[in-house]
Formats: sequence, C-alpha cells, structure tokens
Amino acid sequence: MNAAPREIPKPVGLLAELTHRCPLGCPYCSNPLALEPRANELDTEAWLEVFSQAAALGVLHVHLSGGEPAARSDLAQIVAHCANVGLYTNLITSGIGLTEARIQDLAVLGLDHVQLSIQDTDESSADRIAGYEGAFTRKLEVARWVTDAGLPLTLNAVIHRANISRASAMVRLAVELGARRVEIAHAQYYGWGILNRDALMPSAEEAEAAIAEVEALRAETKNVLVIDHVIPDYHARYPKACMGGWGKRGLNITPSGRALPCHAAETIPGLEFWNVADHSLAEIWESSPAFNAFRGFDWMREPCRSCERKTIDYGGCRCQALALAGDAREADPVCHLSPHHAAVAEQAALSARGAETNPHPAYAYRRMRQHAEAE
Ligand code: SF4
Ligand code: FES
Repeated sequence: MNAAPREIPKPVGLLAELTHRCPLGCPYCSNPLALEPRANELDTEAWLEVFSQAAALGVLHVHLSGGEPAARSDLAQIVAHCANVGLYTNLITSGIGLTEARIQDLAVLGLDHVQLSIQDTDESSADRIAGYEGAFTRKLEVARWVTDAGLPLTLNAVIHRANISRASAMVRLAVELGARRVEIAHAQYYGWGILNRDALMPSAEEAEAAIAEVEALRAETKNVLVIDHVIPDYHARYPKACMGGWGKRGLNITPSGRALPCHAAETIPGLEFWNVADHSLAEIWESSPAFNAFRGFDWMREPCRSCERKTIDYGGCRCQALALAGDAREADPVCHLSPHHAAVAEQAALSARGAETNPHPAYAYRRMRQHAEAE
C-alpha cells in the first residue's frame, strides 16, 4: 500500500546569506569554514528573483544576512524589492559598512527591522572578539542611527567564555541603546564555532550564573525590552527544535544560491542541495533531496523514534548529531536520553578546562583570506 502523500507546510522565513564577505572575524561565526568568494555570489537580478519567488511561495519574512550584507552595494535595491513584494525585511548586520545616510535610505525604502551584533560591553574585549579595532565604538553609533531612523532594533549577543561575565550587562546595554529586543544566545558549536570550541567554551558554573543573571532581569525590563535567551546546548537536558524542525519553517540560501535546510547542513555528508539557478524555490522546498532527508519521523532511530517529545524537538539538531555522535540520524547528543550524552558533557568540561590555565586563548578568526589560500 502506498503511503498517503505528505503535507509539506509552506516556509515562513528565508535567510539570505547575500555574501560571505565581512570585515569582522568573529570566532563563533556560523558560516562554513570554506567561505564563498565574491566571484561566486548571485548577482542582483538573481537575488531579486529569489525574493519574488519566496513571496509567491508564502514566505512572510526575509532575513538579509551574510557575512556582512552591507558589503553588497545593491543592498538598497534588494531591500526595496523585498518591501515591494510584501516581505517583512530584517537586516542582520555587524554595522560595519553602514552609514547614517545609508540606514535612513534603507528605512525609506521599506526596511522593517535591524538586528545588530554586539560582541561585548567592554570595548577592548569587544574589538578583540570581533578581530576589528574600533568595531565597538562604531556599533554604538550604528545603534543610534537605527533608532533615529525609526527602525526597531534588536541587539544580538553571542555569549562565550570571554564575555560571559557581562551577559547581563549586554541586556542593560540594549536598554540604554533603545533596543526593543535583545538576543542573548550562548555560542553554538558549528562552523567556526567548533573550530574555536576550546577557546570559547565557558564552564558549567559560569554558564549557570550567567543564565540566572539574565533571567533575573526579565521582570525589571519587561516593559521596555523582550529578552530572547538561547541557553547553552552542551549543558542542557533536552535539545532545541533546531530550525523549528528540518524543512518545516524556513530555508537558507547561500551566497552562490544553494538552498539549505539550515546554515550548517553542508557539513552533513551525502546530502544533495539544489541551487536557485537550476530550480524554483517551490521545487526546492517540496522536492529537493536535502529538504526531504529529515522531514517527518521515518528517518529517526531510537531513542527518538519511540519518544513522545519527537513532535516537540524533532530529535534536536541534525548537524549537532553529526558533529557529536558521528551520524546525522542519531538523537542530538545534547539529549540526556542519547547514548552519546555523557560524551557531550565530557567534551564541554574538557573544552572549558582551558579557562583555568589560559583565560584569553588565541582565536582562529573567521577570515575570507583562509579560503583563498586554501584554493
Ligand atoms: Fe528529543 Fe530524541 Fe531526546 Fe526524545 S530522545 S527528547 S525526541 S532528542
Ligand atoms: Fe543544522 Fe541544526 S544547525 S539542523
């Protein structure tokens, strides 16, 4: 008997990695280690077609990201087009490369929201983490320009060993800067993050203290700020529903047009990714092998297969299962029911141990150059 055709929900969001070029070198960047050179980037016309198709497919919001999206000289054209086709348009930026005039222009053209990354509240530490002198001061200016232009601002702070003692200060900084939302997200270990894991991992005690401090600020800030708090995976009992479920809510488009179910999907061997140059977004969403690889529950192994939480977390993150358990079909080892869970806690403790002897270890900064040298 044939199985009934599976109903595939329409995607809600699209993350457009317009470019991998970026002036900063953050050591936890989720971009792949093999960064796309500029020559491979989709041109303006191709990106506009992606956004038209996304709107027709039912996508509601688009996130213009990178790398640094302001590195694209056609950013204004892209924003205007997204607004014209009815997409809620969010710019995810380091702020470097934006000017006051450029932000005002984007606001007039229909930009809806800005997410600005902030590396620390301590200036020298912030610049060291970003690998860019003067970044912190510039970001404070950019935050003011964004709110002066009448755009809602979210501050994005990735938390790790070097800034974890100032996690709650990031929340206070967000209030001072007039942000409406702050994302306090403990570092995720994919891409450059896993390369720098030993330099980034805080101890379990540091993580617990930071989580408690941030949570304690919720009541105080509830009338002015929304706090989105992504707690550290390696110290959790259950995994997150990564991407809201594989191929369920959104898609990522790489600078060269490959459509991915999540930003780290290319780390999973054997997946076939389709490119927007060869297929429509609708075809990709419904029929591409990569998007269908982990939809539904048939691919699951035990303990997920018979677990009642599988409809809540979908077995966690496929990329983390690959990275930590060696197979993307395993339960995310962050889950305490996974046979690999103990190894995760051991890895976290091992990575954090470096803090005792070397609190400021050198980072492998995310640099385009490394890709060029590898070619
Ligand atoms: Fe989620 Fe699988 Fe753990 Fe159940 S066993 S909680 S489905 S990761
Ligand atoms: Fe790929 Fe979680 S990052 S599924």
